[in-house]
Order: sequence, then structure tokens, then C-alpha cells
Amino acid sequence: MGIKRISAEEAALLIKHNDHVGFSGFTHAGCPKVVPLALAQRAADEHAKGNIFQIGVFTGASTGDAIDGALSRADAIKFRTPYQTNTDLRNAINKGGTSYFDLHLSTLSQDLRYGFYGELDVAIIEASDVTDDGRIVPTCGVGMTPTIAKLAKVVIVELNGWHPKELRGIHDLTDLQDPPYRREIPVYSVKDRIGKDYIAVDPERIVVVETFVSNDGGGFTPVDEITSRIGVHTADFLVDEMRKGVIPESFLPIQSGVGNIANAVLAAMGDHESIPDFEVYTEVIQDGVVDLLEKGRVSFASGGTLTVSNPYIERIYKNLAFFKERIVLRTSEISNHPEVIRRLGIISMNTAIEADIFGNINSTHITGSKIMNGIGGSGDFTRNAFISIFLTPSTAKGGQISAFVPMVSHVDHNEHSVKVIVSEYGVADLRGKSPRERAECIIENCAHPDYRSLLYQYLASGAAGQTPVNLYNAFAFHKALLETGDMRNAVLG
Ligand code: COA
Repeated sequence: MGIKRISAEEAALLIKHNDHVGFSGFTHAGCPKVVPLALAQRAADEHAKGNIFQIGVFTGASTGDAIDGALSRADAIKFRTPYQTNTDLRNAINKGGTSYFDLHLSTLSQDLRYGFYGELDVAIIEASDVTDDGRIVPTCGVGMTPTIAKLAKVVIVELNGWHPKELRGIHDLTDLQDPPYRREIPVYSVKDRIGKDYIAVDPERIVVVETFVSNDGGGFTPVDEITSRIGVHTADFLVDEMRKGVIPESFLPIQSGVGNIANAVLAAMGDHESIPDFEVYTEVIQDGVVDLLEKGRVSFASGGTLTVSNPYIERIYKNLAFFKERIVLRTSEISNHPEVIRRLGIISMNTAIEADIFGNINSTHITGSKIMNGIGGSGDFTRNAFISIFLTPSTAKGGQISAFVPMVSHVDHNEHSVKVIVSEYGVADLRGKSPRERAECIIENCAHPDYRSLLYQYLASGAAGQTPVNLYNAFAFHKALLETGDMRNAVLG
């Protein structure tokens, strides 16, 4: 007889006001598309009747517009965690309308299992295949899918024929045991597989919605002069470390963050003749990794998602046998697990919104109060990396904002975890340096020339002590931005 087939609208009716709902996927990849849209419509219909209808939303990371965009526009999100990038949702959060809490991506699965946030009522999972005995094969992004499939009372599978059934075999799917039964995670090399290539769920808990919808994978901005210089500096730094014998000649696996800068750094590494073919152990596999896999410069990539533009996913699906030999897609609990990151000696490379001259990093907030996206996996990797690197252009908004400030307006990664910072001007290697030495190194090597004398002036005004902070001037740059629209007008008392 098989598992019950229903429409997206019928599936939406299974979800009640106040339910906690987990969504599969990671970024737009692997996210359900038609049931969330039907759910947004349902919320709008309920609101039109004068009824309250809002749900708690748990995701692997950011999502496609059908989840964060449509649900947010329908005012259907009561609370949301973890990472998000959707403009409508971000505005709702920053206006105080949607409650949002930000978490390290590696921890949400276990937090849900531990019961920190109550029960999970419904899981909505995009699948490339589902068998009558309840074996679910995800699509191109995993996130927390095995955990939400295990915990939810009802599992709505969005079976999307746009993804080939032959994807089966690319995933490595596990749900860890909780303390006191947790054992070591036996990933000893980037390629190791420790789980199954499907998620087993009691078919009684599953309903299936059949669909055929493409990914909403937009493209990347081409590498420009600034991102290309950041890429070249980073690649040169890594080669130097290899020549010094710090990085072994066989090289170490690379984690690279989200966005255009990460793509540019990977391209620079691929072009650098002295960098041997390398492996990637990351959460987000972007277009740049696919190019390097095809060229053989990346020999293997472990990640949690294929966050690639649509021409790239089509390329992967056309040549699936080739890519299945070179890619494994894991849960975010494993792709970002501190134990594995530290064991494998991952070199982490993430982007900062701002850094202070002592090496603290703000990855998430604009002028201290407005959330941008969230910490994502940057903390998981930075804290545990072999070498943790942060990348940023030296300025934003045409030079009106310096990425290097006296004190960050929000701290995500502190001076104890951040080892290297790179801008288009160069590399600040912070290892073994005191706070004062770090400040000089960052100002000299990374800050934009327009801001260097202001930053030196701040440093000179710092109180005597281990860290030369001046509490009266610490936010002078931000104050100038708020009052005049340009940090170059900072006045240091
Ligand atoms: N103050 C105000 N705005 C700033 C700013 C600052 N100090 N620095 C950057 N911005 C603005 C940029 O001008 C840009 O604005 P726009 O969209 O209006 O053009 C926007 O922030 C994004 O900056 P951009 O330089 O394009 O960087 P990005 O797209 O690579 O994003 C982060 C940078 C930090 C927001 C992003 O990497 C992120 O969310 N990181 C946290 C999660 C993470 O690191 N995950 C990776 C783990 S695998």
C-alpha cells in the first residue's frame, strides 16, 4: 500500500498554532519548498479569520525563501533559531517582532535531543527518495535532518523529483548518542564515513507530498580586486607556514566560510603552484570547491551542504558518479564537531563584519544591535581550528566604515581563539603576541591607510595595563558613524 500521499495544503493542516517545527536542509540546499508555502498561506488564512497562528522554527542554517521569507511575511514565526539570511526575517527580528536566538550550528541537534526547547511536533524534510519501509534519502543539504526525523511526532516528506534518486550514497547520516553514552566520533580522515546513506523512520509517522521544484541557488559575485588580494595574501601565508614546517607538506584540510570572499580564497589557493592538492572539511561546499574538484586541486570535500548556484548543481547532477566519489554530505553535528575539527587539524577561514585591534571578532551584528545573519559554524571552527583565520575587506560602504575598530560592538570570537586576520592590505599573524603587539600588527598590516593614524591615536590613549583600552574612546568610531555617517570623523578625547 505504501506511505500515505497527501497534498501540500493537507500537510499544512497537520501543523497547529504553537507547534515546534524542524526543517531539513542547510542554506537553500535541502530545504522543503511547497509545504512551507502552504503553511504560510494557512497562517495568512487563520490571521484573516482573526485567529493567532505562529510556529517555532528550527532549521539547519539559513533557508530558502519559501521558509524564512514566506513564513516571515505571513507573520507565522513565533521564534526562530539558528542562522538566517533572509531580508524579511532579518527585518522582523530587528524590529523586535520575531524572537530569535543564535546558536553554534554544531550544538542545535544535541540541544533538541536534550530537550532544551521542548518537544518537536513536526519535521518537514525534502527528500530525493523515500521507500515504503521509511528510508528517507535527503537532497543536497543535510543540516539536522536525522535528528528532527527521529524526534518529530509527524514527519512530512517533500519528495522532490527535481533531485535525482541516485543521490543516495552521497550522504553520511548519523544521530549521536547523548551523555553518558556518547562515544568518540570515529572520523579520522576527511573521507571517513560513520553512518548510513538514508534515515530510517517508522513509516507510520511519515506522510509524503510529491513535488518537482528547482533550488533557488543564486550565483556569486565575480572575484574583484579586493577579494582577490585577500585570497592571494591568504594563500601566500599558508605556503609560508608550509615552508616553515608548521603545516605539513601533505597540507591540512580547509574549512571556508560563506560568501564571495571564501570563494575568492579557494580560487587563489587553487591557482597557487606551491599549494599541493588539498582536502576540504567544511560545512558549506560552494561553487569554488566544485571547480577545484573538477580540476583535481581539491581531492575530496566533506561538507553539510551543496550550497551552489543552479548551473553548478546541474553540473554535479549530470556527473553524479564523479562527484559521489569525491564528496560526502554529513549532518552539521558532525561537519562542525569540535572533536573532529581539532583531530583533523582544520585550517578555518571565515569572514568578519568587524575586528578590533586586539583580535576580537564581530561576525553577527551591525553597530552592536542589529543582527546580520548569525554565528553559523564560524565559532565551531574558529575555536577548534589548527589555525583560525578571519578575512575581511579593510573598509565597508565606500570607506565610511573601518572593519578595524578600537573595540568591537559585539563579540562572537574572542582574542583567545583568533590566530590570524587578513585584509586586502596583508596578514596580521597574532600568534604569540601581547595585546599591544597584536594591535600594532593589525593596524600596520590590515587596517586601511585612512584609519591607521586614528587607530594609533587610540592605542596611544589606552590605559596602562595588559590591554591598552581607553573606555572613553572605545566606541568613538561607532559614535562617529551614527552621528556623521563616517568613521573617519571619529574624535578621540
Ligand atoms: N558595518 C556595517 N556594515 C558592514 C560592515 C560593518 N563593519 N562590514 C560589512 N558590512 C556590510 C557590507 O557593506 C555588506 O552590505 P550590503 O549587503 O548592503 O552590500 C554586508 O555587510 C555583507 O558584507 P560582505 O562584505 O558582502 O560580506 P559577506 O557577504 O561575506 O558576509 C558576514 C559577511 C560576516 C555577514 C558573513 O560571512 C556571515 O554571516 N558570517 C557569520 C557566519 C559564518 O562565518 N559562517 C561560516 C561558517 S562555515
